[in-house]
Amino acid sequence: MQPVQAAYPLTRFRRLRRTAALRALTQETTLAVADLIWPVFLCDGEGQRQPVVSMPGVERRSLDLVVEAAAEASDLGIPVVCLFPYTDPGLKTPGCEEAWNPDNLTNRAIRAIKSQVPDIAVMTDVALDPYNAHGHDGLVVDGVILNDETVEALVRMALAQADAGADILGPSDMMDGRIGAMRRALEAAGHKDVAILSYAAKYASAFYGPFRDAVGATGALKGDKKTYQMNPANRDEALRLVARDLAEGADMVMVKPGMPYLDICARVKETFGAPTFAYQVSGEYAMLKAAAQNGWLDGEKAMLESLMAFKRAGCDGILTYFAPEVARLLRRG
Ligand code: PBG
Repeated sequence: MQPVQAAYPLTRFRRLRRTAALRALTQETTLAVADLIWPVFLCDGEGQRQPVVSMPGVERRSLDLVVEAAAEASDLGIPVVCLFPYTDPGLKTPGCEEAWNPDNLTNRAIRAIKSQVPDIAVMTDVALDPYNAHGHDGLVVDGVILNDETVEALVRMALAQADAGADILGPSDMMDGRIGAMRRALEAAGHKDVAILSYAAKYASAFYGPFRDAVGATGALKGDKKTYQMNPANRDEALRLVARDLAEGADMVMVKPGMPYLDICARVKETFGAPTFAYQVSGEYAMLKAAAQNGWLDGEKAMLESLMAFKRAGCDGILTYFAPEVARLLRRG
């Protein structure tokens, strides 16, 4: 693009900023409820709501209340909920077998939502960290996170979620080869229409802290995730990962975290043109909420601005804990 304009005073940019109508007419990007994916936390029991202390306004919900939340999301026009389980520590094993139990918390929630709120799409997390005591996304032997053995486990997990009725699988594990393995297994099992939204460029980030609180993995994580998640200093590697995952059969790709990685979002969208999502992660949510609670920021305005930034960067949508709040706001107009 080659912008052309006359010199001042023939061009005055403020002409089109003068009134709300002119500003609306010339706005380049829009944020809509249909752009939102709402991550929700599950816990066992009934009638349970457990606040996540480091994420004000976010709570873990038992199945009955997750179904209620999904119904509310659907009424608001939010197209997708994404499920994350808080797993009972007694169910965590070195082999992570609970991950592909057809009746684990996530799979029960998928079935409950799909039967009672059929219109909303259900997305899952495919990674082993909720299912082992060390909090890693893969199988660990002698301190090493195994790749190929983990991929086999993830395929089992993915098939169980697809059997339960998941619409979108979200592999967040960053093992090599998992997208192709999952895609082939889904085809073979007759799940040809289950979509994969790959966490393709997922960085080893400090901004996941509150999430690990929410799923009960904070104390658990031994070491860090740097042997599988990306180095925050890398840019070209993100493009190579996205290319790889698309070539292996991913339908959509994600950049994570969001706000500190908008340069990556923009490059991914510009380079591949595939459906591209960003995850505005728990730490980003916590920062904005904390500042708002202290009266240091206008919470609503900062929330909307942060989400618009993803759209401006080229993202098709955003996973955000603000989803119901922003949906209510956008509906109010
Ligand atoms: C783990 C997973 C994480 C998040 C989503 N899936 C945390 C991690 O990689 O340690 C983070 C989400 C957030 O911080 O909001 N499979």
